[in-house]
Amino acid sequence: MNAVAIDKRAVAASFSRAASTYDQVAELQRQVGSNLLARLPDDLQPHSLVDLGCGTGYFTRALNARFERPVLGLDIAEGMLCFARTKGPEHAAWIAADAEALPLRGDSQHLLFSSLALQWCPDLGRALSEARRVLLPGGCMAFNTLVEGTLGELRGAWEQVDGYVHVNRFMPLAQLQVVLAEAGFARWHCEVETHVLHYPQLSALTHELKALGAHNLNAGRPGGLTGRARLRALTAAYETYRQVAGLPATYQVAQIILYK
Ligand SMILES: C[S@@+](CC[C@H](N)C(=O)[O-])C[C@H]1O[C@@H](n2cnc3c(N)ncnc32)[C@H](O)[C@@H]1O
Repeated sequence: MNAVAIDKRAVAASFSRAASTYDQVAELQRQVGSNLLARLPDDLQPHSLVDLGCGTGYFTRALNARFERPVLGLDIAEGMLCFARTKGPEHAAWIAADAEALPLRGDSQHLLFSSLALQWCPDLGRALSEARRVLLPGGCMAFNTLVEGTLGELRGAWEQVDGYVHVNRFMPLAQLQVVLAEAGFARWHCEVETHVLHYPQLSALTHELKALGAHNLNAGRPGGLTGRARLRALTAAYETYRQVAGLPATYQVAQIILYK
């Protein structure tokens, strides 16, 4: 698979800046991560576990509560880790690192959990290869990621305005399945959930994306300020998607469990 151009320093900086606002707007993120948590096998009793791309540590705490084991929260954004540290849990350890280059011993982890983080990795195949390396034989990785169709309305509206891609590129499901098949795990399972959120107006969606730190960070995005005329044109284009409940924003979430 071709790695997409994502500037990791920009990703880390954007999420660090969003650390103090993230939890206030991350309702979908909590829902999607809770759904992943619910998919973990009932009989799983991991002794060593990592939350990859832990952000503010919401699921680091949930994993700690569920398994009553210390959890390692790992994230590329220092600002997120600083925030997470202030929230606990007491027994967690926090580490700034890249999911594509894990500073962990091979065959050392029973469970890797990762919610809505790996879509920020330029090379998902590399992140999966790292995950497989650090997992113990029989170990489990549970992660979710966004696939093509996510924020399709915003992408479509921008295309009507200037033809540029202003929305992060999300991998087509078929491509994700190829990456999963080639990752060398003993078995895996992937299911897609569709979530549609509604907003009274476009600014509510764009403010939320900013508070989440989830701006468009793909290389090649046009720089410069969004002029008033372009914003007006974007608002008008997005209005064509309006439903009774408001302006829709679709998220296509692939929920994946792999076993080494
Ligand atoms: C949308 S947040 C999700 C946070 C948390 N998992 C949750 O569900 O609330 C994505 C997180 O992934 C982190 N991240 C992005 N790229 C990463 C990478 N290459 N390695 C580790 N973490 C990364 C970001 O810094 C951010 O904290």
